[in-house]
Amino acid sequence: MTKAPQHLLGIEELTLAEIRRYLDLGKKIKKELDAGTRKWEILQGSTVVSLFYEASTRTRSSFEMAAKRLGADFIHMNADASTSVSKGETLVDTAKNLEAMNPDFLILRHASSGAPQLLVKHLKIPVINAGDGFHEHPTQALLDALTMEEHFGKVAGLRVTIVGDIAHSRVARSNIHLLKKMGAHVTVCGPPTLLPPDLDGLGVESSYSLEAAIKNADVVMMLRIQFERQNDKQIPSNAEYFRFYGLHRDSVRFLKKTAIIMHPGPLNRGVEISPEVADGANSLILNQVANGVAIRMAVLSILSGGVK
Ligand code: CP
Repeated sequence: MTKAPQHLLGIEELTLAEIRRYLDLGKKIKKELDAGTRKWEILQGSTVVSLFYEASTRTRSSFEMAAKRLGADFIHMNADASTSVSKGETLVDTAKNLEAMNPDFLILRHASSGAPQLLVKHLKIPVINAGDGFHEHPTQALLDALTMEEHFGKVAGLRVTIVGDIAHSRVARSNIHLLKKMGAHVTVCGPPTLLPPDLDGLGVESSYSLEAAIKNADVVMMLRIQFERQNDKQIPSNAEYFRFYGLHRDSVRFLKKTAIIMHPGPLNRGVEISPEVADGANSLILNQVANGVAIRMAVLSILSGGVK
């Protein structure tokens, strides 16, 4: 029997078998959720703590829903003026004090890449990365893969194009690792200022032309520009970016009829995607959100060791 993993820090260090395990359980849980099951007892008596140093709507609420559906208690803390982080308490001290109250998991979102890796050196409980800087967002990549599998039946062989601020995106990085491991063909597209310098090492194709990058794609994943992670303005204007790299009435004409459109959220309507495309028939954006609950239930279940 394979040993239960202790933490989920990133996709880069996972084997294909470990990714498969999360996806297979996520798929099974999703079917049960769709059939109306609302309560499990796997984490009955457990407590999940989430500690977020950055804003979140989807990740935070879906982890809470996932923990509660599994029967756990859930405590959420925003590391803001309401906590002693505002008085100068460090990340490690904050996490160690929370651990002293005997929770069973710590979920961390932090603006610094590598923050969850730092915590596992100091904590004994499982740590789950809910997004660290522009490093990784592993549960987002897993829920994205589940969404592609639900629609196409498999990820292997799919042509996936990720468009936008690749340089500052943890979603892009986790998705690239996962999609490459699962046998998809990945292209990234954006203006030169938003593509990272280390693309060769990631094994993806790149293009500055939206038309060239999306015309053969099965999946187009649009990303928000991470203005909060940029020191200087890296695009001339939002309007110009939208014209050349946005998905809108004109640029969707380049897509295959069967292509699906994804976005991790939050959307900046009118910057990377128009409302009619975001809400259109080919958009699976809200399916991604729904799959986030199932995947996070699978992650908590597997890390608890409660699911063989
Ligand atoms: N996709 C995602 O991480 O969204 P939130 O920032 O709202 O959690």
